[in-house]
Amino acid sequence: MAGDAGTQDRRVALVTGAMGGLGTELCRRLHAEGFLVAATHSPQNARREAWLASQQAEGIAVRAYELDVSNGNACDNIVRRVLGDLGRIDVLVNNAGITRDRSMRKMSQEDWYTVMGTNLDSVFNMTRPVLEAMIARRWGRIINISSVNGQQGAFGQANYAAAKAGMHGFTKSLALEVARHGITVNTVSPGYLDTAMVSQVPQEVLRDRILPQIPIGRLGKPAEVAGLVAYLVSDMAAYVTGANIAINGGQHMC
Ligand code: CAA
Repeated sequence: MAGDAGTQDRRVALVTGAMGGLGTELCRRLHAEGFLVAATHSPQNARREAWLASQQAEGIAVRAYELDVSNGNACDNIVRRVLGDLGRIDVLVNNAGITRDRSMRKMSQEDWYTVMGTNLDSVFNMTRPVLEAMIARRWGRIINISSVNGQQGAFGQANYAAAKAGMHGFTKSLALEVARHGITVNTVSPGYLDTAMVSQVPQEVLRDRILPQIPIGRLGKPAEVAGLVAYLVSDMAAYVTGANIAINGGQHMC
């Protein structure tokens, strides 16, 4: 485990897709908020060792787990391992996500199912096994990281937008089911962030088609989204549930 593990009475946050641009910032911020952080990353992630070393250098206590979030049995096992290692899971951030952008006429079945598996099946796979422990403690926070493109669609993203929109139906249904157990469930829908994922968008598409749709006129910062998540996982946010919170520089209005 990188950094100081601290004591078992600290709340534990489990973050999927933790080694990406937003995931890294989520881990950093949740650590700063006092959480022990369990971080999952995709199998054979080449960045793992360098990422762990940089967390350690910054004194961030994080325990990393390799996981294919589209595999339900693997998710069950990881949740059991985290509960064994850290004793509890108070917060789940379903952040893992990928793109396979293509217009519909070119989109393969594999492009569809890979994105649905990683971006939407994962939400079911990770959430179901954490619920019983949260219900037993009568406290929990589940945050689903969706996208502005789940709200308004995007050229070349029928798969991604469908998965991201599906997430919010999941959020609202689960929020109804677990409200009486002290658990809140919310969707956060970021816009285009300054991350490796967005850097894959062709420069001319970003410049000519996307940035003009963002009233604030720039990409978002992962730290800005992490700040919103920090609020949602706090005791102060106990009255926020089933919400889909936009954080996109105003793009959802355009
Ligand atoms: N609106 C209108 N037309 C567009 C367009 C857009 N947003 N984007 C591309 N086009 C046009 C192109 O200019 C091109 O036009 P011409 O044929 O006249 O030259 C045509 O559509 C290309 O069509 P194709 O069917 O050939 O498209 P493609 O299969 O090659 O796909 C693409 C192109 C992969 C979709 C590429 O345009 C692209 O990557 N677009 C960005 C998609 C995007 O926004 N992804 C977000 C990634 S970040 C993210 O997902 C994080 C988040 O949550 C926000």
